[in-house]
Amino acid sequence: MISDLRGRDLISDLDFTKEEVETVLEVAWDLKKKRALGERHALLQDKTLSMLFFFSSTRTRASFESGMAQLGGHAAFMESRTTQISHGDTEKELGEILGRYFDGIAIRHVDWGIGNKYLNNVASASRVPVLNMQCEIYHPHQCLADIMTIIEKKGRDLKGKKIVVSWAYASSYLKPISVPQSLILQMPRFGLDVTLAHPPEFKLIPEIMEQAQEQADKYGGKFEVVHDMEEGFKDADIVYVKSWGPLLTTQDPDEGKKIQDKYKDWITDSKKMALANKDAIYMHPLPADRDVEVTSEVMDGPQSVVFDQAENRMHAQKAVMALTMR
Ligand code: CP
Repeated sequence: MISDLRGRDLISDLDFTKEEVETVLEVAWDLKKKRALGERHALLQDKTLSMLFFFSSTRTRASFESGMAQLGGHAAFMESRTTQISHGDTEKELGEILGRYFDGIAIRHVDWGIGNKYLNNVASASRVPVLNMQCEIYHPHQCLADIMTIIEKKGRDLKGKKIVVSWAYASSYLKPISVPQSLILQMPRFGLDVTLAHPPEFKLIPEIMEQAQEQADKYGGKFEVVHDMEEGFKDADIVYVKSWGPLLTTQDPDEGKKIQDKYKDWITDSKKMALANKDAIYMHPLPADRDVEVTSEVMDGPQSVVFDQAENRMHAQKAVMALTMR
């Protein structure tokens, strides 16, 4: 267990070593237990977190805000469009200034080619940790909740178990690619064999694919890509299916939608779930396009763990905040 993560940023999934991620998980379970027992755990009393959003959120905002209050601190909700950021505050100014007001700065910025750079620029100017609430490349706090949930459901020995990270059709909007990218980076470190399934136009960033392969090689797991949803589901222990935009193919929303509309049959239904192992779990970070990405039968069915997964966002983030913002 690593005892000192004070002052550390969490922007990429690989910013924390595997041992450091294990530390986060141990603390998260401890805090989850304390909350279940009603034990006070005001580890961040008098501390404050700035939560800066350039894009909408339900779970991320609510879980960071509630988590910070449970730790005895306060989280301030800020939006780019209702602050002077829209009139020219720069990353350097924000890093310097928010870093003097707050003990941590959490940012969501998913604009293609902009968000991740923005977070890193703020971090360079900030004296306090910068936490990634999702950029266009990574969603590390989601992924921490995901591995926490997988261990709770499948045990600590995940060696040889298969997770399929699959694309799904959605009609609402072109969703970021950060969740599948975080998953393929983090899951191999825990011994899982990772199958990435997507139509050809929905590729992920080549450098992230290389890093995912490196993690799989390092930890002795398999990493493969298939272009067939059914093939991906076969013999899976964990079925993690969500939509993302064809952003490596086109960033034009109309063209992207046309491409996306070719694959309406990429929906998770009970027939596809039957291809996975009998005790497979179904995961989704939410929000999902119900009965488009996934049938309500699967989403509300016995294999679905989506609400436990959403709950774990709060416990995992409390652990990161308690460890980095002390
Ligand atoms: N999973 C997730 O990040 O949810 P929100 O977009 O609602 O924060």
